[in-house]
Amino acid sequence: FTLAADTGLPKLAVKAKYKIGFAQTESNNPWRIAQTKSMQDEAKKLGWQLVYTDAAGSAAKQVADVRSMIAQKVDAIFLAPREEKPLAPVILEAKKAGIPVFLIDRNVDQSLAKAGTDYVTFIGSNFIEEGKRVGEWIAKKTNGKANIIELEGTTGSSPANDRKTGFDNVIKKYPGMKILASQTGDFARDKGRQVMETLLQAHPEVNVVYAHNDEMAIGAIAALEAAGKKPGKDVLVLSIDGGKEAVQLVVDGKIAYVVECNPKFGPKAYSTLKDYAAGKKIPAKIINPDREFHAGNAKQLLNTAY
Ligand code: AHR
Repeated sequence: FTLAADTGLPKLAVKAKYKIGFAQTESNNPWRIAQTKSMQDEAKKLGWQLVYTDAAGSAAKQVADVRSMIAQKVDAIFLAPREEKPLAPVILEAKKAGIPVFLIDRNVDQSLAKAGTDYVTFIGSNFIEEGKRVGEWIAKKTNGKANIIELEGTTGSSPANDRKTGFDNVIKKYPGMKILASQTGDFARDKGRQVMETLLQAHPEVNVVYAHNDEMAIGAIAALEAAGKKPGKDVLVLSIDGGKEAVQLVVDGKIAYVVECNPKFGPKAYSTLKDYAAGKKIPAKIINPDREFHAGNAKQLLNTAY
């Protein structure tokens, strides 16, 4: 294999059909299932061979999955790294083996592996911006006064880190906006429900819940209702993702605001690979535009949600 002189990245030959790997992080929620389907559908459409793995929520298994793709000599690897640090070394291993890596949806620690040098690019949402948009919406709707419980995503993952950073950057400008508690619900519905149940007992004065994804928001709604609180009235619930179930909850008035994070990566991922093979210059970050859902547009946009 050859390395491009300008970037040091492995080159990719132009071919009609590729054998590519997609290392998924887990399949326990509708977002992940929609992402996998998009990657599989588009590969089928192009007639490419897809080696698919599911790390089942384990960074160690995902490392092993990528190693197995390297051993199978795939042409390129698409990786959705579960956490920012543990997946970085295996990106360097793929580079050493001459296999270009494209990160989709989640990023890695830039001090351990760099976009444009160690892997081709990151394709996904601007998670900092997503957290910022949620914070700004709360500030506007509550006149800068809120008692907030934050349900964080998977510890060490780029969406959890960045959605917190973007949110905190806004909150610190408003002395009346307090984060009563911030705890991980691992991006999972039932964990979100359990964590919310416990935090609600400790902080009954909560009037805003910021969940880093829809699944935890839906879990939190169950916990609020079980405790006799009315989501949308007693407590504003906000989330990120924009799946159909959450957008329906916006229509129903139980979720106040959702920032979209679109899981349909297939077309963009593979067209970027083709551009890369053709020698086009690929930016280090390719940011997906995110819509938003609120009482004013949710009904109209419901059918466009994944
Ligand atoms: O990386 C994106 C996040 O991961 C989505 O918000 C979440 O639902 C998924 O598990």
